[in-house]
Amino acid sequence: DEEKEQYKARIKSLLKEKNAVLVAHYYTDPVIQALAEETGGCVADSLEMARFGAKQEDADIIIVAGVRFMGETAKILTPEKTVVMPTLAATCSLDVGCPIDEFSKFCDQHPERKVVVYANTSTAVKARADWIVTSSCALEIVEHLDSEGETIIWGPDKHLGSYIQKKTGADMIMWNGACIVHDEFKTQALKDMKALHPDAAVLVHPESPAEIVDLADAVGSTSQLIKAAQDMDNKKFIVATDRGIFYKMQQLCPEKEFFEAPTAGEGATCRSCAHCPWMAMNGLQAIEEALINPEGKEVFVDMELREGALRSLNRMLDFSA
Ligand code: 13P
Ligand code: SF4
Repeated sequence: DEEKEQYKARIKSLLKEKNAVLVAHYYTDPVIQALAEETGGCVADSLEMARFGAKQEDADIIIVAGVRFMGETAKILTPEKTVVMPTLAATCSLDVGCPIDEFSKFCDQHPERKVVVYANTSTAVKARADWIVTSSCALEIVEHLDSEGETIIWGPDKHLGSYIQKKTGADMIMWNGACIVHDEFKTQALKDMKALHPDAAVLVHPESPAEIVDLADAVGSTSQLIKAAQDMDNKKFIVATDRGIFYKMQQLCPEKEFFEAPTAGEGATCRSCAHCPWMAMNGLQAIEEALINPEGKEVFVDMELREGALRSLNRMLDFSA
């Protein structure tokens, strides 16, 4: 509507004036994803967001629309840039559920194991890790470590961890974390939905519980699921991930139909209903404010921790290059 268009126009001129680039995750509001695309920024999964941020040599400011760990990753990779977020309060249940002190103790109990952590963590947890992974490269990295005879401590997402363990057969000890969004998908309701649409393919993000992953025709990161929607011949898809992803799926496959996988089975209550409450904190007003006055919205990381986190992040980027 008109108000949104006015915001967009003002943000576009601020981006130019401040020499800033907007990087957005697929789970953010479609209007933000469109804005990132229209202004030469990017819309991406977490691995691609990290890569894109790292190669922005000309920009002075990187605006990260997503959640806190994405902003921190950009800052770790480009400490000389100003990295701002619409709000620093946008966290992630995986990050919150993996405090550094407890996680570090857990790791200390198994010093012989390689510590592999999901990107959805704080800089301190990344610094404690040997490897960082995202859902698009976790399988290959664990396969590689397993083939070298390494045993693994995995954190924090237990569902992604179990999926990788099942696929690779690697020896993994798991931290008990979960994503509040993906944890809500309901197995029986999904079976019922499949029965209603027998010709639909089921696309599942591996942060979902094992029973949901078992019903999938394709499992992968947000980018991989978008690619699956394009590549598969099906005309209908049931999608078990944050509904923000529908913007890109519909844009790329206008002739196909996408359905949200069910989150609340009979009698169940739904806390997050297929949309991440922290991703939802990214709005046009907050982006404009961040550009006008970045104070309180700028991402800083401890420089000592940054060194450790950069080492493990670079391992991932080099491996998946
Ligand atoms: P992707 O890396 O698949 O984009 O997922 C990360 C995530 O959980 C964002 O919330
Ligand atoms: Fe974290 Fe889940 Fe939100 Fe992604 S969707 S940021 S994993 S809480």
